[in-house]
Amino acid sequence: MNMDGKLVSTWYNLHSSVPESYVQPAERQPCNAVLSTIKTIPVIDLGGHDRDDIIRNIVKSSEEYGFFQVVNHGVAKELMDDTLRIFKEFHAMPANEKLIESSKDPNGSCKLYTSSGRNCADVAKYWKDSLRHPCPPSGEFTEYWPEKPEGYREIVGKYTQELRALGLRILDLISEGLGLSPNYFSEELSANPVLISHNYPPCPEPSLTLGASSHKDPNILTILFQEPNITALQVLKDGAWIPVEPIPNAFVVNMGLMLQIITNGRLIGAEHRVITNSSPNRHTIAYFINPKKDAIIGPAKPLASSTSQAIYPSMPFGELLENFMNKGPYFEAEFRL
Ligand code: OGA
Ligand code: NI
Repeated sequence: MNMDGKLVSTWYNLHSSVPESYVQPAERQPCNAVLSTIKTIPVIDLGGHDRDDIIRNIVKSSEEYGFFQVVNHGVAKELMDDTLRIFKEFHAMPANEKLIESSKDPNGSCKLYTSSGRNCADVAKYWKDSLRHPCPPSGEFTEYWPEKPEGYREIVGKYTQELRALGLRILDLISEGLGLSPNYFSEELSANPVLISHNYPPCPEPSLTLGASSHKDPNILTILFQEPNITALQVLKDGAWIPVEPIPNAFVVNMGLMLQIITNGRLIGAEHRVITNSSPNRHTIAYFINPKKDAIIGPAKPLASSTSQAIYPSMPFGELLENFMNKGPYFEAEFRL
């Protein structure tokens, strides 16, 4: 079975308390968390006419928070609504049907999993089910995507095309702001995007559990669409958590660890996590911009010159990812030059 453990969505409503294996150690429990006095992350209007101002805001937010939200980003509301509906319907299907629809590739490129998908390494499990698959611009792998709910491939295909365009547009603004060449990210650094649809079921004891661990995304850039009206994503800044409240039709954008390395530590791949709620179900759709496995990741020349030396070594993305998977986000401390 291509699933580590049983999907939370199949049993959560049978419990009035959280199973022991889902109880986080005290220091990670949301009830013991320090909340930030900062109430929200910056919001950037991509529809504004002052390009320099947009660039300045993006760079500043990425330096200070590693996170921002974008509005007037050009992705049609109808497409966002349709895509969210498709994934809600997917997670609402019977478990056996979800499994069939997500197990079409013998190599496992498309998969349905629960918790972090790496249960053995986790101290406690996470209150979440996720569907994940590659979504490269070439269209490769589409034959392994689910065919249900009806329209899945067409709608998710269109969505991932639009998100790629938006991601490259944001990366171009970042490049311009930092003095990197135009299209710096548009080839091998963004060739392997992945889409993950997360489903966080209602949880009877949100104070004890987490939907997703405190983590940094091991990629270039992530664009997240959160279901409206439920706040659960939190960003760590100066040791305290800032909630990321959903704004209707906005996307949350965050820097990945690879972008932190490429910018020689100037932009931050901030730690973030997901708390649970007692109701209702929460869905999010994460579009991850990932490099090719053999793309060399290291500080970009213009950002690591004689005046500011490279603080990270350069190595292939595949190797970096392996380190990250084995050691977790804290491999970063060892990784610095
Ligand atoms: C992720 C992530 C946040 C969310 O997928 O890496 O941080 O709210 N998701 O689902
Ligand atoms: Ni993340």
